[in-house]
Amino acid sequence: MTNRIAQLTALLPKVSDDPRALIAIARQMIAAGDRPRAVALAEQVHAMTGGRGEAGVTAAEILSDGVFSWHFVIPRDRARNDAYEQALLRAIRPGCRVLEIGTGTGLLAMMAARAGATVVTCEADAAIASAARDVIAANGYSDRVTVVSKHSTDLDPTRDMGGLADILVSEIVSNDLLSEGVLGAHEDAVARLLAPDGVVIPPRGTIRVALARDLRDRAPRLGEASGFDLSAFNRLAAPNELVRVGMDQVALCSAPVDLFSFDFATADPRKPERRELDIPSLGGRIDGIVQWIALEMDAVGRYENRPESGTASCWGALLWRFPEPVDTEKRDTVTVGGAHERDRVRLWVSD
Ligand SMILES: C[S@@+](CC[C@H](N)C(=O)[O-])C[C@H]1O[C@@H](n2cnc3c(N)ncnc32)[C@H](O)[C@@H]1O
Repeated sequence: MTNRIAQLTALLPKVSDDPRALIAIARQMIAAGDRPRAVALAEQVHAMTGGRGEAGVTAAEILSDGVFSWHFVIPRDRARNDAYEQALLRAIRPGCRVLEIGTGTGLLAMMAARAGATVVTCEADAAIASAARDVIAANGYSDRVTVVSKHSTDLDPTRDMGGLADILVSEIVSNDLLSEGVLGAHEDAVARLLAPDGVVIPPRGTIRVALARDLRDRAPRLGEASGFDLSAFNRLAAPNELVRVGMDQVALCSAPVDLFSFDFATADPRKPERRELDIPSLGGRIDGIVQWIALEMDAVGRYENRPESGTASCWGALLWRFPEPVDTEKRDTVTVGGAHERDRVRLWVSD
């Protein structure tokens, strides 16, 4: 413990009934680099205040820092939840030991416990791990689910898990599939934390792409505003835009193509890759390439958030807009490039 953290800790008994003083110390703990202690204090203040008043709101500010809003969205995606639960039900045998990477609300860990497994689930964010423990206790699964507040690569298979897992399950895939670090986390877990004949859910993920027309009724870039030309600002636009799936925001202008497919059940490190594809158009204006994800859950289960499927998804698709729209006839080919750097994906139209 550094001096500063020791000094702050020494103050705590004197202010244990004072939420404002406790939250002030929590903020100092963050400044001193001890987020786990700050989170514990913020939880204490939340319990004292019920989230009310300045101290309660400051506690919420600390607890929610870095907690993405999609945590409140993904558990509502019934198709996603069911795809995972069905795969867990097919894989889990009595006495099975499941390791989950990425607890979040605890939903998948509780599904595995409900199916009969003993579960260790790890969570990199201390506030999320602590809230998940409360969720799991409230649902009566604390005796079957252990939440370890660690990044998966810091797990010790003996100390934290009591031995290698029979099943590894995770939902750490982002809209672009890779940027939440699924490749590195799985390669490490398969090598160190999973029994040699262990099962991985999902065992495979694919980045799918298609030529696309933007159906949203708005200019994609800045132009004239109040008599001024703002177009020079457009170079600051991100190269891809989130597209909500199942909302008719884009039309696919080609058949879908698998760009890159990844084995999540291997310990072999995947190298970065780059490729070019000639994609035949279905005709008409093309604004860019849209990218989405497909997950194989096991030999029979599959989840895909194809943008024009008519079914909403917690995962968005990404539209990589071309510098200018391209007008095409049916069967004209458009050459697009794609690359990934293991935790980042990039798409472009070739000249
Ligand atoms: C998308 S949420 C999934 C939550 C829950 N498993 C579900 O599917 O409903 C992913 C969670 O995993 C955590 N996470 C991501 N990578 C991790 C890793 N390698 N080790 C531990 N936690 C991780 C994130 O902090 C986040 O809370």
